[in-house]
Amino acid sequence: MEFYSKSILWALPVLLLSFLVLFNINGVEASHKEYMHLHSKSAINVKQVHRSGYHFQPTKHWINGPMYFNGYYHLFYQYNPKGAVWGNIVWAHSVSKDLINWKKVPHAIYPSKPFDKYGCWSGSATILPGNKPVIFYTGIIDTNQTQVQNYAVPANLSDPCLIEWIKPDNNPIIVADQYVNKTTFRDPTTAWLGKDGYWRTTIGGRRKRRGMAFLYRSKDFINWVRVRHPLHSKNGTGNWECPDFFPIAVDSKNGLDTSAIGQNVKHVFKVSLDLTRYDYYTLGTYFPEKERYIPDKDMVDGWEGLRYDYGNFYASKSFFDPSKNRRILWGWSNESDSTDNDVKKGWAGVQLIPRTVVLDPNGKQLLQWPIEELETLRGDKVELSNKVLMKGEKVGIKGITVAQADVDVTFSFDSLDKAEPFDPSWEKLNGEKLCGLKGSTVQGGLGPFGLLTLASENLEEYTPVFFRIFKAQDKHKVLLCSDASRSTIVEDKTSMKDGRDAWRPSFGGFVNVDMSSKKLSLRSLIDNSVVESFAAGGKTVITSRVYPSLAIYDKACLYAFNNGTEAVKIESLAAWSMNRPKLMNH
Ligand SMILES: *[C@@H]1O[C@H](CO)[C@@H](O)[C@H](O)[C@H]1NC(C)=O
Ligand SMILES: *[C@@H]1O[C@H](CO)[C@@H](O)[C@H](O)[C@H]1NC(C)=O
Ligand SMILES: *[C@@H]1O[C@H](CO)[C@@H](O)[C@H](O)[C@H]1NC(C)=O
Ligand SMILES: *[C@@H]1O[C@H](CO)[C@@H](O)[C@H](O)[C@H]1NC(C)=O
Ligand SMILES: *[C@@H]1O[C@H](CO)[C@@H](O)[C@H](O)[C@H]1NC(C)=O
Ligand SMILES: *[C@@H]1O[C@H](CO)[C@@H](O)[C@H](O)[C@H]1NC(C)=O
Repeated sequence: MEFYSKSILWALPVLLLSFLVLFNINGVEASHKEYMHLHSKSAINVKQVHRSGYHFQPTKHWINGPMYFNGYYHLFYQYNPKGAVWGNIVWAHSVSKDLINWKKVPHAIYPSKPFDKYGCWSGSATILPGNKPVIFYTGIIDTNQTQVQNYAVPANLSDPCLIEWIKPDNNPIIVADQYVNKTTFRDPTTAWLGKDGYWRTTIGGRRKRRGMAFLYRSKDFINWVRVRHPLHSKNGTGNWECPDFFPIAVDSKNGLDTSAIGQNVKHVFKVSLDLTRYDYYTLGTYFPEKERYIPDKDMVDGWEGLRYDYGNFYASKSFFDPSKNRRILWGWSNESDSTDNDVKKGWAGVQLIPRTVVLDPNGKQLLQWPIEELETLRGDKVELSNKVLMKGEKVGIKGITVAQADVDVTFSFDSLDKAEPFDPSWEKLNGEKLCGLKGSTVQGGLGPFGLLTLASENLEEYTPVFFRIFKAQDKHKVLLCSDASRSTIVEDKTSMKDGRDAWRPSFGGFVNVDMSSKKLSLRSLIDNSVVESFAAGGKTVITSRVYPSLAIYDKACLYAFNNGTEAVKIESLAAWSMNRPKLMNH
């Protein structure tokens, strides 16, 4: 197809450019590091080992505004073609018919006008009535990082790839007033239309330590007025980036358009916390007449709130896909490596696999699942069933490319009696801290059991993804861990921070699951340096980035293991080699 031609030509320059920009990963922060010396690095040095096979890469930072338009998915992402020099952030643009195969097209938006001279930062796309896309983005207008909000429209609506975008001269359309700090004022959301005929968008920022989602209103999409109070805010959370606000159906798995409202609709409000670098969300109710979003009573609104992903995951955005009636969430995963190692690799950062999001039937959280299109990349398959793993036992999964695989396993056990007691003093620990305390080598009663991913033959290296079940006072608590601490034997002096070792965290999150079925499922997407794991049908998700030295390509092994005293059964396991997409020339 003509659309897919000349693909290879794009690969190299883009690789080079992307690796240069990685070092501005804090593009959203007022303070940032500059790496001038990277200017002279050549793409010839790009190291292949650890590069992802089927995750979208390279890319940089967060996604701007994924959207669906006339048969194509569009991915816009932040990018600095001048690399080492701070600023000049553009919107790079790739298009796809299936969210798997991607074709790079020319940058959609780049600095060229007074209202975005120093950078085109993040934003969102909105499809206006009549099927007319509009982009909202944050423009940087001076060397003090003063932020304004601009819009852009396609030059040619008949072009389904929307290659060319126009930035009208009546920009900027939103500038900070006295109430708003103009250096922390960015990332406008997809706009939604109220029953009163007004459009709304919310923009991230802060006042002192209070994270803010400023709310703006417009009748014509051009003249915007700030609503006096924010849509939502939370003291003590610091700057809010990349807010995302969308409706979710209570009684259906269908996704909803961003403007949907009504009886059977709840709302999700998510922000990316600049200070901790992770995304958290609450579920709640949107009161249009009060112009407020209020989280449900039992929601934790802050640091320890629900997270889309308890690992390397930031700056996600969602969009409504009308072609399949679903809401898709997309996150960006940075490297765990040091900057020096990123330079040696020549690249950094991947887009994770897009996930569909629905409301958990319990109404208390979301469920995320890799888009079904991913399954088209599945190749050779191996299966296993009714295999009992006694204490200390492990079983190898062979016959597929385990360094680039999709693994789906369901464990079961006879009883919950051996679950270790949950020490009340752990109540104040979050999942990550408890996983740090209770790693895969700390034997338990029911668990640890799970997968040893990217393992070397003699287990010098491995990244275990595992469950541990505790008996708390009135219920069982299930913990999912994804532990990078033994992922490589290479000592990483360059990324020592304050005398500490490299960043190889033992990520963790609790899984709010009813254990009466005595079953737990786990799906892991393994892709060379990416281990993206979904527990219990997507209740808890953790992504780790790891860099094994022995467990690479066909030297990598995959095991299911049990290190608890209670026997655990692999009820069923299916694992597939994952092929590369035919087209990945971004
Ligand atoms: C940047 O901020 C400094 C300090 O407030 C001010 O003196 C300077 O004029 C500003 N520069 C621009 C280009 O706005
Ligand atoms: C608009 O796009 C269509 C479809 O790609 C193309 O046929 C047409 O020539 C374009 N119009 C202009 C003015 O470029
Ligand atoms: C505005 O934000 C900047 C960057 O975070 C900060 O340095 C400055 O102190 C803030 N100004 C006010 C008035 O809070
Ligand atoms: C916000 O939190 C700060 C401490 O982080 C506290 O000093 C301040 O009083 C709080 N403000 C409000 C309105 O609660
Ligand atoms: C990226 O990686 C570093 C460690 O290398 C980590 O400290 C940081 O929080 C990560 N996340 C983001 C979103 O930058
Ligand atoms: C299981 O526990 C034993 C004893 O602590 C330990 O030596 C072994 O490495 C553990 N297995 C895994 C996969 O962590």
